[in-house]
Amino acid sequence: GDPWSLCYFIHRLLDFRLPDVEAVAETCGAAAPTLTWRMPFGDEPMSPFYYLRVPGGDAVVEGIARRTTLARGFMEVWGEGATFAELQAAVQAAPASLTAQWLSPERSFKVAVEGYGHKVSDARRIELIHQLGFVPFQGSVNLANPDVVFWLLVARTSGNSGITDTIPDRMYFGRQVAVSDRRRNAQYALGQRKYIGPTSMDTEMAFIMANMAKVMPGHFVFDPFAGTGSILVAAAVFGAAVAGADIDIRVIAHGKAAERGGGRLDIYTNFEQYGMGGRLAGLLRMDNHRHALRPGLEGMFHAIIGDPPYGVRAGGRKSMPKEIEIRDRDSYIPSTSPYSMGECLRDLLDMAARLLVEGGRLVYFFPANPNGYDDSEL
Ligand SMILES: C[S@@+](CC[C@H](N)C(=O)[O-])C[C@H]1O[C@@H](n2cnc3c(N)ncnc32)[C@H](O)[C@@H]1O
Repeated sequence: GDPWSLCYFIHRLLDFRLPDVEAVAETCGAAAPTLTWRMPFGDEPMSPFYYLRVPGGDAVVEGIARRTTLARGFMEVWGEGATFAELQAAVQAAPASLTAQWLSPERSFKVAVEGYGHKVSDARRIELIHQLGFVPFQGSVNLANPDVVFWLLVARTSGNSGITDTIPDRMYFGRQVAVSDRRRNAQYALGQRKYIGPTSMDTEMAFIMANMAKVMPGHFVFDPFAGTGSILVAAAVFGAAVAGADIDIRVIAHGKAAERGGGRLDIYTNFEQYGMGGRLAGLLRMDNHRHALRPGLEGMFHAIIGDPPYGVRAGGRKSMPKEIEIRDRDSYIPSTSPYSMGECLRDLLDMAARLLVEGGRLVYFFPANPNGYDDSEL
């Protein structure tokens, strides 16, 4: 059957980790029902380690690693144990059919040591690598560009007051299958983005949302509450053409004055900053309660992604038509009234039902109390 990989997660946003990988796997051609998760030793759901089996093996795992936001990497485990002696016995018992080809003299290698729950000092790292002397490495060491990277993962949370110590102390040794691209969050960080506002979506979360929406190159993605366009940026990074709408004419048409060098900054500026100008199909000033997309556009979007105005971060408004004569259309700003969360959700679901392709996804934020939340709230 297909091999198991050990998925090593970043210890954040725990509830999003598995769904993020599952959605990304679908974009790599591995449908979610074909994925199997196995909890690691200790049966602790919060564990940063999870075994994963996907059809398609290394190639699919590499594809998942390229997109996922919450997995650091994936390794093929050759052995694990609570002590070095246990680890050694397990690795020595690993079948040659698994290990021999990677240990051959033709393949250069390096050993990466990762500590979870504690920092591994340089001295300790060298000591640990020496202790791996029982592994019959034959290739030459190449730190810069090795053919194979071996990992020694050392989980030790006892004595670390900052994190839960229900994760058992454990060591894993094996071959790196793939590591994720940790530079992407920095590359698109809000701190360096030219046009942002107080409710700009966090870069990492925007990527998670685009993953959940299974955005693929060639897709057409819509954000009805675009704001400063952060979610649209994430979808475009994954290759989609995007369009957005917002009731606020300022974000759609005016932007804001640049602090330096004159000119104005707006959503288009952000897309140009990232060399994706061609991906932004357009922006509409539109009230999602009375949206302007004509009937007959069924199946127009592959995904609708948004952070609706719930009043948690920015209260929702909807247009309130008045029987007045509009004298100057350019300066006229329609009056609005509060937009309740229930109405907002109903409109969003209605829009998704009409405008998504079959199998397309609607991804949105929904405020919930983590202690009292129940799936029936959906
Ligand atoms: C939480 S913010 C979205 C922020 C956005 N994700 C970003 O990264 O900047 C919600 C947005 O919904 C807009 N909005 C409020 N009521 C709306 C309505 N009825 N129709 C469309 N947009 C609306 C607000 O102007 C605001 O920009």
